[in-house]
Amino acid sequence: MSLPTAVKIVEVSARDGLQNEKQFLDTAIKVELINQLSAAGFPNIEAASFVSPKWVPQMADGTEVMANITRRDGAIYSALTPNMKGFEAALAAGVDEVVIFGAASESFSQKNINCSIAESIDRFAPVAKAALDAGVRLRASISCSLGCPYEGEIPVQNVLDVVKRMHDLGVHEYDIADTIGVATPVKTARLMEAVAGMIPIEQMAGHFHDTYGQALANILASLQVGVSIFHSSVAGLGGCPYAKGATGNVATEDVLYMLHGMGIHTGIDLDQVVKTGAWVSEQLGRPTNSRAGKALFLKQSLSATNDEVSRTK
Ligand code: HMG
Ligand code: MG
Repeated sequence: MSLPTAVKIVEVSARDGLQNEKQFLDTAIKVELINQLSAAGFPNIEAASFVSPKWVPQMADGTEVMANITRRDGAIYSALTPNMKGFEAALAAGVDEVVIFGAASESFSQKNINCSIAESIDRFAPVAKAALDAGVRLRASISCSLGCPYEGEIPVQNVLDVVKRMHDLGVHEYDIADTIGVATPVKTARLMEAVAGMIPIEQMAGHFHDTYGQALANILASLQVGVSIFHSSVAGLGGCPYAKGATGNVATEDVLYMLHGMGIHTGIDLDQVVKTGAWVSEQLGRPTNSRAGKALFLKQSLSATNDEVSRTK
């Protein structure tokens, strides 16, 4: 079994992680979170979402967030853009990559972006053209690829149909998303194999929510197929407002612990991410959802205490 030797992690906590928070968080907290993630070495950070503030009030300050972050050279800062209005705002804010986000389920498409799958592609077409004309990277997310909160099972063919339509728009990267975290590894591997039959595997990403505790297993199954891009969220924050009951994305700390333990390179400083996970959990006033984050933070705290004790001896 040959696994990828390096993986790109797209850190989504500042967008997917925070979008579902009921209490509006200060822009300064979002900026600090992104700055800490940049300093930890993430190659790609989902920083904002240019959607209707009536639909997702938490993401209303995307322009201010983008204006105040400290960018790390070479890192890609992405934002969700459902239509031209969102694209224009994202372009003005200076994002490096825009994300059109559709679904493999008709019901979820209606609930999330208020239109059918076919209508969503019509809305994405001018966004895709404008992004490519402006030299901005174009990513496409396909929600409910492995199950839908309204329709249940989603046929693989539905996912392939949407991938094909996104491909026709000139997309650079495709996020195969398990929005409600229901997938199991064999099913995930089968879907990834089917998608890899249509597009280069280097352009495929796995976006797993961890509702049923299957996300790491699904990442491993995807790695075995050859997928080398994964999305994760520090402290396991996250959830979609239009996918009731779905919990956060797989925790970045857990993913890094697994990948680094398998000798897979990410270029990210796990110790730093553990500190960020603890910091953001404190800001939100609740414990981390990351097992590795919790264990490693305890270890860091014990070693800091031991250092302090030996200094004062
Ligand atoms: P709509 O109501 O059908 O759109 O919403 P509309 O064109 O009729 O516009 C209605 C109002 O929204 C107008 O304002 C527009 O100006 C405004 P009004 O005249 O009423 O004052 N508007 C906007 N404002 C700011 N930015 C925009 C924008 N567009 C319209 N871009 C729309 C359609 C798509 C806009 C709406 O349904 C929406 O914003 N949905 C957001 C959905 C969302 O953000 N969901 C969470 C992200 S997806 C996700 O989490 C899944 C993912 O993680 C992968 C996975 O896990 O599956 C990516
Ligand atoms: Mg998501």
